[in-house]
Amino acid sequence: MRVLGIETTCDETAAAVVRLEPGGAGEILSNEVMSQIAEHAAYGGVVPEIAARAHVEVLDRLVARALERAGTALSDLDGIAAAAGPGLIGGVIVGLTTGKALALASRKPFVAVNHLEAHALTARLTDGVEFPFLLLLVSGGHTQLVAVRGVGDYLRLGSTVDDAVGEAFDKVAKTLGLPYPGGPEIERRAEEGDPTRFAFPRPMLGRAKPDFSLSGLKTAVRIEAQRIASPTRGDVADLCASFQAAVVDSLIDRSRAGLRLFRERVGEANAMVAAGGAAANGAIRRALARFCGEAGLKLVLPPPQLCSDNAAMIAWAGIERLSLGLSDDMTFAARARWPLDADAEAAHHGKA
Ligand code: KG4
Ligand code: ZN
Repeated sequence: MRVLGIETTCDETAAAVVRLEPGGAGEILSNEVMSQIAEHAAYGGVVPEIAARAHVEVLDRLVARALERAGTALSDLDGIAAAAGPGLIGGVIVGLTTGKALALASRKPFVAVNHLEAHALTARLTDGVEFPFLLLLVSGGHTQLVAVRGVGDYLRLGSTVDDAVGEAFDKVAKTLGLPYPGGPEIERRAEEGDPTRFAFPRPMLGRAKPDFSLSGLKTAVRIEAQRIASPTRGDVADLCASFQAAVVDSLIDRSRAGLRLFRERVGEANAMVAAGGAAANGAIRRALARFCGEAGLKLVLPPPQLCSDNAAMIAWAGIERLSLGLSDDMTFAARARWPLDADAEAAHHGKA
């Protein structure tokens, strides 16, 4: 089975072809990503209108290139998958409409993919992880611990009550005058810094419910940065290192609470999996490796380029759904919000 995937929910335009091998393993035949970072950098964050327009400008070319590099014609495909949300609605519409049009023109089945589900299932593409597993999803827009019980079967154990991890990195970077996106930049600066110089708070430490909070930490960094009238390169490095160390401690403590709840509610986990852009962070990856080693849990970390937004994960989610006989029709509408666990989301907003 060969599926084309399309991703346009945020600031990466991406197209990829993934093949399902007879034994059940996935093979990435092409994986094209075009980042819009340069277009948004001047604004210190993603501007939705600019993103949507940039997707329109490059997507057709990117799809053509993904097919070409995969040595695959449209007629060779077994399906077309496009991310249908959650994300910036203008961009989502661009990718979803393109996917539908290609599916209609080539008479192939169409799959509307949940971007979060695609992040969640990436570890099955890279490592064939079996259900159920504990997922730590840390991206620019989402921070959650989720019990992944099957395709389309998610139990949200905890989530952030304010900022997402990637968002906190981006906002702290902005405060420190560092370029967007903040995650990779803070990680680089932190390498030269002293993680013990500033005693930043470890939010939610010790709480049984595996929720996260990052906005207090972000504010603590800002206050400390303002106290230093004109920070030197060394001060910035120490602020970055101390901030990152606080995030890492909080993520590990929250993961411990998440694993406990997973074992109570679901049973034994086959693995812990990290996904989302912030899962590319080396300090987070090393800390998760230590934590899983101590907990006797297998850790699966997809390579950094498959942690951040890409279309191989969308194609793979399409393969997983098509393999179960699931597909969508042309009426499927773009969704700005689309929680993995609708019950948890409803309860959170007092609707259940
Ligand atoms: O998953 P992703 O590519 O897009 C979303 O769906 O949000 O994640 C992007 C986020 C950005 O906030 C970025 O700053 C963060 O992931 N990020 C990192 C690192 N690389 C990317 N955060 C911390 N450390 C990194 N190395
Ligand atoms: Zn993402």
